[in-house]
Amino acid sequence: MAKKVVLAYSGGLDTSVAIRWLQEERGYDVVALTIDLGNEKDLRTVEERAMQIGAVKALVRDGKQLFVDFFAFPALMAGAVYEGSYLLATAIGRPLIAKMLVDVAREEGATAIAHGCTGKGNDQVRFDVSTKALAPDLEIVAPVREHRMSREEQIEWAGARGVPVPATKASPYSTDENLWGRSIEAGMLEDPWEAPPEEIYAWTTSPRRSPDTPREVEIGFLHGRPISLDDHEMDGVTLVQTLNQWAGEHGIGRTDMVEDRLIGIKSREIYEAPAAWTLHNAHEALEQMTLSKPQLRVKNSLRQEYADLIYNGLWFTAHHQDLAAYVQSTQRFVTGTVRMRLHKGQAVAVGRKSPRSLYSYALATYDRGDQYDHNAALGFINIWGLPVQQQARQQLLAEGEAPFQLGNPDEGNTKEA
Ligand code: ARG
Repeated sequence: MAKKVVLAYSGGLDTSVAIRWLQEERGYDVVALTIDLGNEKDLRTVEERAMQIGAVKALVRDGKQLFVDFFAFPALMAGAVYEGSYLLATAIGRPLIAKMLVDVAREEGATAIAHGCTGKGNDQVRFDVSTKALAPDLEIVAPVREHRMSREEQIEWAGARGVPVPATKASPYSTDENLWGRSIEAGMLEDPWEAPPEEIYAWTTSPRRSPDTPREVEIGFLHGRPISLDDHEMDGVTLVQTLNQWAGEHGIGRTDMVEDRLIGIKSREIYEAPAAWTLHNAHEALEQMTLSKPQLRVKNSLRQEYADLIYNGLWFTAHHQDLAAYVQSTQRFVTGTVRMRLHKGQAVAVGRKSPRSLYSYALATYDRGDQYDHNAALGFINIWGLPVQQQARQQLLAEGEAPFQLGNPDEGNTKEA
């Protein structure tokens, strides 16, 4: 009996060729596993194609609910944004796909998993490292990384063997999508001076052509998790799908950046993440109201760490568990509703309320009804300023010391030729 490999199968050219390559070059029986994380596709056709090419089994699994509950929303609660512009859609999908590959490998008695990543990106790292964490005994095969055939060479290779590969027109772009967002790279985007052409976008209307009238949506959160839109409770998958639609129509969630890949190169990336950005901005607005100042400060200082960890393929680590435990604890009182205005590419919080709000009208108001103790402020300032005053008297303003000066604004400005 031949040894078995479970291949993450998308139905595209790379992984279609990979089915036959794994058989011919490596002697594997191939179980093709197609995972649905919300990437709209004709899953039946994909399944059939895998069998036609020669897989011994073709499986389709729905990972949408797991993806939202255990990957996307936890990243949202952590406020994870990579290098200021990327909400990590592709990056959080990979560990789940790895987990599902490993699970199927166990069910099927396979000794290896395989994926269609090249040797130049982050995704290979995420798949490989996640697999090593979950199942150190499994082999990992990456056909594209190994055979290094170009698109044309793969089509020729498949043609010579009668492998029915998809006959879709070659797109110059490389894209990846799931519920949390869509990633677009390569083609003319490799020139960072070129503005992204409108044709690359699939989920968002150009803010130039989006409606002139704003749309408002009320997003309900329970312990940091989004649970409702406009007072209708719904499951996370439906919520994200619906919001992708609504926010996408208003052109929300496009980002264009040059990003640092883990493997050491900079690359130009375009993202569309309408629901993710809307939820991110809403969640942030609710945290401003429900977390104390030091909680916000410490939590914000961990955001970058959390984003890097996701980006760098370290989902299944103890470090992540530790950070996630902290984040989860911070979300205890992040419950309430945020009113978001969707308009011309922006999702802005224009209202927020929470039964656990730390904002108090009676304390904040300048009107009558003010319950703030103004005399206490005076006393507080005396104590707060005491060491400042003492140091000024004894040292900074002492005889012989230079008094405070604002200085010369041009000083220190070295002019370039
Ligand atoms: N640069 C992004 C990341 O590393 C997106 C990768 C997109 N993947 C793709 N196969 N097009 O997360």
